[in-house]
Amino acid sequence: MPTSYLITGPARGLGYALAKALAAKPENIVLALVRNKTAAEHRLAADNITNVHVLVADVTDDNALKGAAAEASDILGSQGLDVLIHNAAYVSEQTALTSINDHETEPTTLIEDTQQSIEVNVFGTLKATLAFLDLVRRSQIKKVVAISSGMGDIDMINEIRLSNAAPYAISKGALNVLIAKLNAAYAGEGILFMAICPGRLGADGHSSTVPEPILSRVKGIEAKFEAYVGVKVVPMRPEVAARSVLAAVDRQTLAGGFGGSFWSHNGTKRWS
Ligand SMILES: NC(=O)c1ccc[n+]([C@@H]2O[C@H](COP(=O)([O-])OP(=O)(O)OC[C@H]3O[C@@H](n4cnc5c(N)ncnc54)[C@H](OP(=O)(O)O)[C@@H]3O)[C@@H](O)[C@H]2O)c1
Repeated sequence: MPTSYLITGPARGLGYALAKALAAKPENIVLALVRNKTAAEHRLAADNITNVHVLVADVTDDNALKGAAAEASDILGSQGLDVLIHNAAYVSEQTALTSINDHETEPTTLIEDTQQSIEVNVFGTLKATLAFLDLVRRSQIKKVVAISSGMGDIDMINEIRLSNAAPYAISKGALNVLIAKLNAAYAGEGILFMAICPGRLGADGHSSTVPEPILSRVKGIEAKFEAYVGVKVVPMRPEVAARSVLAAVDRQTLAGGFGGSFWSHNGTKRWS
């Protein structure tokens, strides 16, 4: 029997790499939930990928999610949805390099950015989960995976005093708790909810065009992160991270004790 996957936020980055890796296996049914259908279809067509069903919804929009779930139901029928991957995220650039100290006199930006991060990364994940829940219930596999981040792990934050990107980190910490709560609510129905950190992806941000003092901030954050990891961190290509995440999705089960858990793609609690 084919295995079905629905990925949110698959237009670029890790989400696209996940969709591409899954679509490469003809035994998979792949659904991609995007905001811009035309752009997503063009990108897939440019890569000669013809077996991805593109659905449209912003994960914060209940009505659009309901419409996408109805479309997914038509595609998947009684088999239901085997694996739902919440990859979509608001990754704020505005507060990525700032600390709470920088917002001491005027915290509005910090607060609004946290609200937006929670709106998408927490409430969006909840709304999308509920929209597709009945489809997951119909499946024999029943896995719901949130792509989280070690940035939301208090042990790492405390160990290296990582003060930047509070809004994003707060939202990912809350996402991890949401996943634990969803597990508490639905493990009895045999649904596995788990969070996975995909590791660090993409460009390292060091560029001769990055001006001071931004470059010093980036270097300072990287130095802390490298001290934590113990080696120079080479960001992974999205395809490499996608393979590792999908291997974790395959091997981690409810029976294996992964309900409500938060692990790195590499099966550890060290986030790199
Ligand atoms: N990059 C890293 O180093 C890293 C590290 C740890 C964890 N992560 C996590 O891994 C995941 C993917 O990261 P990435 O770097 O590939 O992200 P990305 O390039 O910023 O892509 C995010 C995707 O989410 C979609 N999205 C954002 N808001 C949305 C909304 N309201 N409704 C629906 N879709 C929405 C975007 O859609 P549009 O294309 O329409 O904008 C985009 O496709 C995220 O959950 C991120 O937090 C990333």
